[in-house]
Amino acid sequence: MDDPTATDGGIDPARLPEFEVLFSGAEISARIQELAREIADSGMQRLLVVAILKGSFVFAADLLRALHTVDVRPEVDFVTLSSYRKNQISSGQVSILRDVDLEVEGRDVLIIDDILESGRTLAFAKDLIWARGASRVSTCVLIEKAVPRAADIAADFKAFRCEDVFVVGYGMDLAYRFRELPFVGRVIS
Ligand code: IMP
Ligand code: MG
Repeated sequence: MDDPTATDGGIDPARLPEFEVLFSGAEISARIQELAREIADSGMQRLLVVAILKGSFVFAADLLRALHTVDVRPEVDFVTLSSYRKNQISSGQVSILRDVDLEVEGRDVLIIDDILESGRTLAFAKDLIWARGASRVSTCVLIEKAVPRAADIAADFKAFRCEDVFVVGYGMDLAYRFRELPFVGRVIS
């Protein structure tokens, strides 16, 4: 990428770049089924799932359907958080763009996000849900990146770990593109 601060992510929109596939669609769906079982076995009651938009929308959709197959019947809501990420660089500030609608007080809540990197987004979401009076808060991410955390947080459930590379696909974007890819990969050219 020539200019990583360009609003197009330095990617020519007219050309489909090459990707290295890190986690294939088949690997992801097999792992999600295992995760659903782990979550079902964790004994959460009257579960409320809160998915963090936008990046987790594909993961959350597949995980929720896998949870259905193991008899978990949650209520589902969404929160849209912004980490003021310009392309691949995170600013460190998190803010709420759209809040949850449902009452959180007294509920067991499972927060779903796409990636745990610095940890600021997930820590912010967890604090928010605790502050709304949840009785139990668990977190689930598709990918935990092997980087030092700025916030002291670990995910209770995670599908995969990956090295410190910028990934796209399966809901995750680079400058709003590549969310539709059925795999997680990285742009190689
Ligand atoms: P954190 O707050 O630094 O943990 O970053 C988490 C958020 O940044 C995630 O919810 C993602 O939306 C985004 N993010 C972090 N790394 C990547 C990446 O490699 N590709 C796409 N989005 C990412
Ligand atoms: Mg995100």
